[in-house]
Amino acid sequence: MSPRPIIIDTDPGQDDAIGILLALASPEELNVLGIVTVAGNVPLELTSKNARMLCELANKPETKVFAGCSRPLIRPLVTAEHVHGKTGLDGVNLPLPKFSLQKEHGVDWTIETLMNAKDDSVTICCFAPLTNIALAITKKPEILPKINKIVLMGGGFFEGGNITPTAEFNFFVDPHAAKIVLSCGRPIVMLPLDVTHKALMQRKWLYNLRDLGTPIGDAAYGMLSYYERFDKEKYGSNGGPLHDPTVIAYLIQPDLFEGRHVNVEVEINSEFTIGMSVVDWWNVTDRTPNAIFINQINADGFFQLILERLSRL
Ligand code: BDR
Ligand code: CA
Repeated sequence: MSPRPIIIDTDPGQDDAIGILLALASPEELNVLGIVTVAGNVPLELTSKNARMLCELANKPETKVFAGCSRPLIRPLVTAEHVHGKTGLDGVNLPLPKFSLQKEHGVDWTIETLMNAKDDSVTICCFAPLTNIALAITKKPEILPKINKIVLMGGGFFEGGNITPTAEFNFFVDPHAAKIVLSCGRPIVMLPLDVTHKALMQRKWLYNLRDLGTPIGDAAYGMLSYYERFDKEKYGSNGGPLHDPTVIAYLIQPDLFEGRHVNVEVEINSEFTIGMSVVDWWNVTDRTPNAIFINQINADGFFQLILERLSRL
Protein backbone atom coordinates (compact mmCIF):
# COMPACT_ATOMS: atom_id res chain seq x y z
CA MET A 1 0.00 0.00 0.00
CA SER A 2 1.28 3.48 -0.78
CA PRO A 3 1.85 5.79 2.18
CA ARG A 4 -1.09 7.83 3.40
CA PRO A 5 -0.78 11.53 2.42
CA ILE A 6 -0.99 13.76 5.49
CA ILE A 7 -0.81 17.44 6.39
CA ILE A 8 0.49 18.22 9.88
CA ASP A 9 -0.93 21.31 11.58
CA THR A 10 1.13 22.14 14.64
CA ASP A 11 2.45 24.60 17.27
CA PRO A 12 5.74 23.01 18.45
CA GLY A 13 5.93 22.47 21.53
CA GLN A 14 8.00 19.50 22.77
CA ASP A 15 5.15 16.98 22.36
CA ASP A 16 4.42 18.33 18.87
CA ALA A 17 8.13 17.83 18.19
CA ILE A 18 7.92 14.10 18.93
CA GLY A 19 4.79 13.87 16.75
CA ILE A 20 6.64 15.51 13.84
CA LEU A 21 9.71 13.27 14.29
CA LEU A 22 7.51 10.17 14.50
CA ALA A 23 5.77 11.09 11.24
CA LEU A 24 9.02 11.91 9.43
CA ALA A 25 10.48 8.62 10.63
CA SER A 26 7.61 6.62 9.12
CA PRO A 27 7.75 7.11 5.33
CA GLU A 28 6.39 3.63 4.65
CA GLU A 29 3.09 4.55 6.25
CA LEU A 30 2.97 8.34 5.95
CA ASN A 31 3.73 10.84 3.22
CA VAL A 32 4.07 14.24 4.90
CA LEU A 33 2.88 16.66 2.20
CA GLY A 34 3.73 19.65 4.36
CA ILE A 35 3.71 21.10 7.85
CA VAL A 36 1.57 24.13 8.65
CA THR A 37 2.25 26.10 11.82
CA VAL A 38 -0.15 28.07 13.98
CA ALA A 39 0.06 30.26 17.07
CA GLY A 40 -0.61 28.23 20.20
CA ASN A 41 1.97 27.03 22.68
CA VAL A 42 4.10 30.03 21.65
CA PRO A 43 3.57 32.75 19.00
CA LEU A 44 3.61 31.91 15.30
CA GLU A 45 7.11 33.17 14.61
CA LEU A 46 8.51 30.67 17.13
CA THR A 47 6.33 27.71 16.12
CA SER A 48 7.39 28.32 12.49
CA LYS A 49 11.05 28.41 13.45
CA ASN A 50 10.73 25.35 15.70
CA ALA A 51 9.03 23.28 12.98
CA ARG A 52 11.92 23.94 10.60
CA MET A 53 14.55 23.16 13.24
CA LEU A 54 12.83 19.82 13.83
CA CYS A 55 12.83 18.95 10.12
CA GLU A 56 16.55 19.65 10.05
CA LEU A 57 17.08 17.58 13.18
CA ALA A 58 15.29 14.71 11.43
CA ASN A 59 17.55 15.26 8.44
CA LYS A 60 14.54 16.09 6.26
CA PRO A 61 15.17 19.73 5.29
CA GLU A 62 13.19 19.13 2.11
CA THR A 63 9.97 19.08 4.15
CA LYS A 64 7.78 22.07 3.26
CA VAL A 65 6.87 24.27 6.21
CA PHE A 66 4.21 26.97 5.89
CA ALA A 67 3.21 29.60 8.44
CA GLY A 68 -0.52 29.67 9.10
CA CYS A 69 -2.56 31.89 11.41
CA SER A 70 -0.96 34.13 14.02
CA ARG A 71 -4.06 34.26 16.22
CA PRO A 72 -7.33 32.43 16.87
CA LEU A 73 -10.42 33.19 14.76
CA ILE A 74 -12.16 35.40 17.31
CA ARG A 75 -10.56 35.32 20.74
CA PRO A 76 -7.20 36.83 21.70
CA LEU A 77 -4.27 34.42 21.67
CA VAL A 78 -3.44 32.51 24.86
CA THR A 79 0.00 30.84 24.92
CA ALA A 80 1.59 28.18 27.16
CA GLU A 81 5.16 29.22 27.94
CA HIS A 82 4.49 28.05 31.49
CA VAL A 83 4.46 24.49 30.08
CA HIS A 84 6.81 24.61 27.10
CA GLY A 85 9.27 27.37 28.09
CA LYS A 86 9.98 30.67 26.35
CA THR A 87 11.06 29.12 23.05
CA GLY A 88 8.38 26.41 22.99
CA LEU A 89 11.20 23.87 22.77
CA ASP A 90 13.04 24.56 26.02
CA GLY A 91 15.30 21.73 27.13
CA VAL A 92 17.23 21.50 23.87
CA ASN A 93 19.44 23.90 21.92
CA LEU A 94 18.89 23.22 18.25
CA PRO A 95 20.78 25.14 15.56
CA LEU A 96 18.81 27.91 13.81
CA PRO A 97 17.08 26.59 10.68
CA LYS A 98 19.00 26.95 7.44
CA PHE A 99 15.98 26.62 5.17
CA SER A 100 13.24 29.21 4.81
CA LEU A 101 9.54 29.06 5.31
CA GLN A 102 7.51 28.56 2.14
CA LYS A 103 6.14 31.88 0.89
CA GLU A 104 2.49 30.87 0.65
CA HIS A 105 0.20 31.26 3.67
CA GLY A 106 -0.41 27.87 5.30
CA VAL A 107 -4.19 28.11 4.95
CA ASP A 108 -3.98 28.90 1.22
CA TRP A 109 -1.52 26.05 0.70
CA THR A 110 -3.82 23.65 2.56
CA ILE A 111 -6.73 24.70 0.33
CA GLU A 112 -4.66 24.41 -2.85
CA THR A 113 -3.25 21.01 -1.87
CA LEU A 114 -6.67 19.61 -1.06
CA MET A 115 -8.26 21.04 -4.21
CA ASN A 116 -5.58 19.28 -6.27
CA ALA A 117 -6.05 15.97 -4.42
CA LYS A 118 -8.37 13.08 -5.19
CA ASP A 119 -11.60 12.78 -3.22
CA ASP A 120 -11.26 11.18 0.22
CA SER A 121 -7.47 11.06 -0.01
CA VAL A 122 -5.72 13.43 2.45
CA THR A 123 -5.60 13.04 6.24
CA ILE A 124 -5.28 16.19 8.32
CA CYS A 125 -3.27 15.70 11.54
CA CYS A 126 -3.87 18.43 14.09
CA PHE A 127 -1.58 18.94 17.08
CA ALA A 128 -2.70 22.46 17.96
CA PRO A 129 -5.56 24.98 18.07
CA LEU A 130 -7.70 24.25 15.00
CA THR A 131 -7.57 27.77 13.55
CA ASN A 132 -5.91 26.91 10.22
CA ILE A 133 -8.13 24.03 9.20
CA ALA A 134 -11.29 25.82 10.38
CA LEU A 135 -10.36 28.83 8.28
CA ALA A 136 -9.58 26.63 5.27
CA ILE A 137 -13.00 24.94 5.57
CA THR A 138 -14.74 28.30 5.92
CA LYS A 139 -12.92 29.91 2.98
CA LYS A 140 -13.35 26.94 0.67
CA PRO A 141 -15.91 24.31 1.74
CA GLU A 142 -15.17 22.46 -1.53
CA ILE A 143 -12.08 21.01 0.17
CA LEU A 144 -14.23 18.85 2.45
CA PRO A 145 -14.74 15.86 0.12
CA LYS A 146 -10.97 15.70 -0.39
CA ILE A 147 -10.36 15.04 3.29
CA ASN A 148 -10.16 11.38 4.25
CA LYS A 149 -10.28 12.15 7.96
CA ILE A 150 -9.19 14.70 10.53
CA VAL A 151 -7.21 13.19 13.41
CA LEU A 152 -6.77 15.72 16.19
CA MET A 153 -5.32 16.03 19.65
CA GLY A 154 -7.77 18.09 21.66
CA GLY A 155 -10.60 18.13 24.13
CA GLY A 156 -11.30 15.98 27.13
CA PHE A 157 -14.37 14.90 29.02
CA PHE A 158 -14.17 12.56 32.01
CA GLU A 159 -10.63 13.83 32.57
CA GLY A 160 -11.65 17.51 32.82
CA GLY A 161 -9.45 20.26 31.44
CA ASN A 162 -5.78 21.21 31.65
CA ILE A 163 -5.99 24.99 31.13
CA THR A 164 -9.34 25.57 32.87
CA PRO A 165 -11.24 23.07 35.02
CA THR A 166 -13.23 22.03 31.95
CA ALA A 167 -11.19 22.90 28.84
CA GLU A 168 -8.18 21.33 27.17
CA PHE A 169 -5.61 23.85 25.81
CA ASN A 170 -6.09 23.40 22.04
CA PHE A 171 -9.89 23.69 22.25
CA PHE A 172 -9.68 26.53 24.76
CA VAL A 173 -7.34 28.65 22.61
CA ASP A 174 -9.69 28.52 19.62
CA PRO A 175 -13.09 27.12 20.60
CA HIS A 176 -14.76 28.66 17.54
CA ALA A 177 -12.35 26.81 15.28
CA ALA A 178 -12.94 23.55 17.16
CA LYS A 179 -16.68 23.99 16.68
CA ILE A 180 -16.30 24.50 12.93
CA VAL A 181 -14.10 21.41 12.60
CA LEU A 182 -16.36 19.19 14.70
CA SER A 183 -19.38 20.14 12.62
CA CYS A 184 -17.66 19.80 9.22
CA GLY A 185 -19.23 16.44 8.40
CA ARG A 186 -15.98 14.58 7.59
CA PRO A 187 -14.74 11.65 9.73
CA ILE A 188 -12.99 12.87 12.86
CA VAL A 189 -10.84 11.00 15.35
CA MET A 190 -10.24 12.81 18.63
CA LEU A 191 -7.29 12.06 20.92
CA PRO A 192 -8.38 13.90 24.09
CA LEU A 193 -6.84 14.24 27.53
CA ASP A 194 -8.79 11.11 28.49
CA VAL A 195 -6.31 9.11 26.44
CA THR A 196 -3.15 11.22 26.58
CA HIS A 197 -3.24 11.21 30.37
CA LYS A 198 -2.90 7.43 30.11
CA ALA A 199 0.30 7.87 28.09
CA LEU A 200 2.68 9.06 30.81
CA MET A 201 6.40 9.06 30.07
CA GLN A 202 8.22 6.81 32.49
CA ARG A 203 11.79 7.78 33.40
CA LYS A 204 13.13 4.48 32.10
CA TRP A 205 11.63 5.26 28.70
CA LEU A 206 13.32 8.67 28.66
CA TYR A 207 16.62 6.93 29.47
CA ASN A 208 16.00 4.56 26.55
CA LEU A 209 15.70 7.59 24.29
CA ARG A 210 18.94 9.04 25.63
CA ASP A 211 20.64 5.67 25.24
CA LEU A 212 19.94 5.69 21.50
CA GLY A 213 23.13 7.77 21.49
CA THR A 214 21.99 9.79 18.45
CA PRO A 215 21.35 13.54 18.02
CA ILE A 216 17.61 12.73 17.87
CA GLY A 217 17.73 10.63 21.04
CA ASP A 218 19.67 13.36 22.90
CA ALA A 219 17.35 16.12 21.70
CA ALA A 220 14.21 14.15 22.57
CA TYR A 221 15.60 13.27 26.00
CA GLY A 222 16.53 16.90 26.70
CA MET A 223 13.26 18.48 25.65
CA LEU A 224 11.01 15.85 27.20
CA SER A 225 12.90 15.96 30.50
CA TYR A 226 12.19 19.69 30.61
CA TYR A 227 8.57 19.33 29.48
CA GLU A 228 7.50 16.56 31.86
CA ARG A 229 8.24 18.62 34.98
CA PHE A 230 5.11 20.75 34.59
CA ASP A 231 2.55 17.95 34.51
CA LYS A 232 4.42 15.86 37.06
CA GLU A 233 4.18 18.72 39.55
CA LYS A 234 0.61 19.54 38.62
CA TYR A 235 -0.83 16.03 38.76
CA GLY A 236 1.65 14.44 41.12
CA SER A 237 2.09 11.72 38.52
CA ASN A 238 5.08 9.56 37.68
CA GLY A 239 5.66 11.17 34.29
CA GLY A 240 4.22 13.79 31.95
CA PRO A 241 1.66 12.98 29.23
CA LEU A 242 2.86 12.84 25.63
CA HIS A 243 -0.17 14.31 23.83
CA ASP A 244 0.41 15.07 20.16
CA PRO A 245 2.30 11.94 19.01
CA THR A 246 -0.88 9.93 19.75
CA VAL A 247 -2.28 11.38 16.50
CA ILE A 248 0.52 9.90 14.41
CA ALA A 249 0.65 6.65 16.40
CA TYR A 250 -3.08 6.23 15.75
CA LEU A 251 -2.44 6.37 12.00
CA ILE A 252 0.52 4.00 12.09
CA GLN A 253 -0.84 1.48 14.58
CA PRO A 254 -4.58 2.02 15.26
CA ASP A 255 -4.83 -1.22 17.24
CA LEU A 256 -3.01 0.54 20.10
CA PHE A 257 -6.18 2.58 20.70
CA GLU A 258 -9.87 2.15 21.56
CA GLY A 259 -12.72 4.60 21.58
CA ARG A 260 -16.37 5.19 20.74
CA HIS A 261 -18.21 6.97 17.93
CA VAL A 262 -20.13 9.72 19.73
CA ASN A 263 -21.44 13.23 19.44
CA VAL A 264 -19.02 15.95 20.58
CA GLU A 265 -19.95 19.64 20.81
CA VAL A 266 -17.77 22.56 21.89
CA GLU A 267 -18.90 25.27 24.29
CA ILE A 268 -18.22 28.75 22.90
CA ASN A 269 -20.27 31.03 25.14
CA SER A 270 -20.02 30.22 28.82
CA GLU A 271 -17.71 32.20 31.05
CA PHE A 272 -16.75 29.11 33.06
CA THR A 273 -16.78 26.34 30.47
CA ILE A 274 -15.67 28.00 27.22
CA GLY A 275 -13.65 25.52 25.15
CA MET A 276 -15.13 22.49 26.90
CA SER A 277 -15.84 19.46 24.73
CA VAL A 278 -19.26 18.08 25.65
CA VAL A 279 -19.23 14.37 24.84
CA ASP A 280 -22.42 12.34 24.62
CA TRP A 281 -20.61 9.20 25.80
CA TRP A 282 -23.81 7.49 27.02
CA ASN A 283 -25.83 8.42 23.97
CA VAL A 284 -28.42 10.34 25.98
CA THR A 285 -29.23 12.87 23.24
CA ASP A 286 -30.42 12.46 19.68
CA ARG A 287 -27.42 14.43 18.39
CA THR A 288 -25.65 12.68 15.53
CA PRO A 289 -22.25 11.10 16.31
CA ASN A 290 -19.52 13.21 14.67
CA ALA A 291 -16.24 11.90 16.12
CA ILE A 292 -14.48 8.81 17.37
CA PHE A 293 -13.54 9.79 20.91
CA ILE A 294 -10.49 7.71 21.90
CA ASN A 295 -10.16 6.90 25.58
CA GLN A 296 -7.89 3.81 25.78
CA ILE A 297 -4.26 3.30 24.78
CA ASN A 298 -1.71 0.53 25.02
CA ALA A 299 0.88 2.88 26.54
CA ASP A 300 3.79 0.41 26.39
CA GLY A 301 3.13 -0.25 22.72
CA PHE A 302 2.89 3.49 22.05
CA PHE A 303 6.23 4.30 23.70
CA GLN A 304 7.86 1.30 22.03
CA LEU A 305 6.66 2.51 18.64
CA ILE A 306 8.11 5.99 19.20
CA LEU A 307 11.43 4.61 20.42
CA GLU A 308 11.75 2.23 17.49
CA ARG A 309 10.85 4.88 14.90
CA LEU A 310 13.08 7.58 16.38
CA SER A 311 15.97 5.12 16.33
CA ARG A 312 15.59 5.02 12.52
CA LEU A 313 16.27 8.73 12.02
C1 BDR B 1 -2.04 20.25 23.92
O1 BDR B 1 -1.69 21.58 24.30
C2 BDR B 1 -0.35 21.85 23.99
O2 BDR B 1 0.26 22.48 25.07
C3 BDR B 1 0.29 20.52 23.62
O3 BDR B 1 1.26 20.72 22.62
C4 BDR B 1 -0.87 19.71 23.12
O4 BDR B 1 -1.11 19.95 21.75
C5 BDR B 1 -2.38 19.46 25.17
O5 BDR B 1 -3.45 20.04 25.84
CA1 CA C 1 0.55 21.01 20.33
